[in-house]
Amino acid sequence: MTLKPSEFILNEDGSIYHLNLLPNQLATTVITVGDPDRVNNITKHFDTIEHIVHKREFHTQTGMYKGKRISVISTGIGTDNIDIVFNELDALVNIDFKTRKVKKNLTSLDIIRIGTSGSIQADIPIDAFLVSETAVGFDSLLHFYKSEEIQDIKFSKLLLEHLILPRENGLPYVVNADVRLLSYFEKDYFKGITVTNCGFYGPQGRVLRLPLSNPNLNDRMAHFNYKDRRITNLEMETAGIYGLSKLLGHRALSLNAIVANRATGEFSKDPTATVERLIVDALDRIASIEAV
Ligand code: URA
Repeated sequence: MTLKPSEFILNEDGSIYHLNLLPNQLATTVITVGDPDRVNNITKHFDTIEHIVHKREFHTQTGMYKGKRISVISTGIGTDNIDIVFNELDALVNIDFKTRKVKKNLTSLDIIRIGTSGSIQADIPIDAFLVSETAVGFDSLLHFYKSEEIQDIKFSKLLLEHLILPRENGLPYVVNADVRLLSYFEKDYFKGITVTNCGFYGPQGRVLRLPLSNPNLNDRMAHFNYKDRRITNLEMETAGIYGLSKLLGHRALSLNAIVANRATGEFSKDPTATVERLIVDALDRIASIEAV
């Protein structure tokens, strides 16, 4: 099937619509960050940089780190941006830009998010690193795709019951990390179930001026237990990343620098330093990931 101009959109220079990238500018190992300025904080460690491309919140640099070709891309905040970035990353490797058709032989990317997050467990302290073994999406992104097969529906239903959520909040979707990528990060990192939400304030239980519809939500989440595993942290991208990666055939993993502890009320004194430590540690682990 030839993809229509309204669905698969290319710019005049032949690059993909939002990311502004050409297929040859993307590596098969991709690091995503939220903040466009954080891309430089990663590539400053690279040995060489071949491409630097900016458009809106999407800033991409591709280069070499210890013999591995890696692209670093900023997604902006939230799973609405993840929908754009992951569909376009996939198009860059799996759609032929000349014929506008899906390729016969598909490519799987290794995609690692390096982001910040808030812990909801008192014993997972600020400035710790956490790898998301499972993601729970309270945003609705995955429900727009045919995705029941990749979801843990039993987990979703039990969580919904436990949280006593009104029906209008919708069914959270649950997707696991790629186990092979996970194996490179299990040592020294906290491991947990990450909840992705559609906002930073109300949806994560923060009150500045507006009262919450469900003030006990974080506390109830903190006490949910599924197969002896617990919900550990809140952020805004991981479930979308896991869901779309799995549907598209890519391997994804989300690494979290814990900058807030919502149980104790603390916030990191130096979140930039914590993220920098995570970047340095993650880069060496990513460089050691063997090709499949
Ligand atoms: N990012 C989030 O989404 N929540 C936090 O508490 C910290 C970082």
